[in-house]
Amino acid sequence: MKILIGYATKEGQSREIARHVFRRLADQGQAVELLGLKDAEDMDLSAYDAVILAAPIHAGHYPKPLSHFLSVNADQLNALKTLFLSVSLAAHGHDAEEWRSLDEIAGDLASATGWTPNRTLQVAGAYRPSQYDILTGFIMRRIVAKRDPDAKPGEDKVYTDWDQLDADLSDWLPA
Ligand SMILES: Cc1cc2nc3c(=O)[nH]c(=O)nc-3n(C[C@H](O)[C@H](O)[C@H](O)COP(=O)(O)O)c2cc1C
Repeated sequence: MKILIGYATKEGQSREIARHVFRRLADQGQAVELLGLKDAEDMDLSAYDAVILAAPIHAGHYPKPLSHFLSVNADQLNALKTLFLSVSLAAHGHDAEEWRSLDEIAGDLASATGWTPNRTLQVAGAYRPSQYDILTGFIMRRIVAKRDPDAKPGEDKVYTDWDQLDADLSDWLPA
């Protein structure tokens, strides 16, 4: 099976997640390709059997390179087996309101671009003060302090549950 793994990222965690998925599927003997969506030009997706896309939520939206890629390629993507990895900090928690809003944000993306993934996984991302500017760092410190009192304000912290991701991936694409 030939699988394309595309990602958009701002602070790097969605790229880490895409790389993890890439290594895991490559280890299984799948033919995989990794693509940064900001570098994606005209793509012929008919060469692939499946596509996995990973992208973060920032202020309630996914990055432009993702929505642009989807708008251009929605028809081809809808004809393939697809998985969307939606990366956020809200996915680390259990707040029902926040989970409703995660579903809404993913639903808005589908309405805006015409792409309906076969499956969407909400994946917890990371807190990366090493990557933030001063204002973003100030805002994120307050958000993370409320969510995770154990987080150290100046230290990067990854919330992605790699074992859960592997299990969900195996469920979507049995080896
Ligand atoms: C400016 C900013 C805004 C964010 N907005 C949201 C948000 O609206 N909802 C959420 O759950 N997480 C939000 N996050 C957390 C990111 O989704 C999380 O840090 C993710 O790991 C970022 O992925 P990336 O490293 O691939 O950019 C935000 C982070 C930043 C820095």
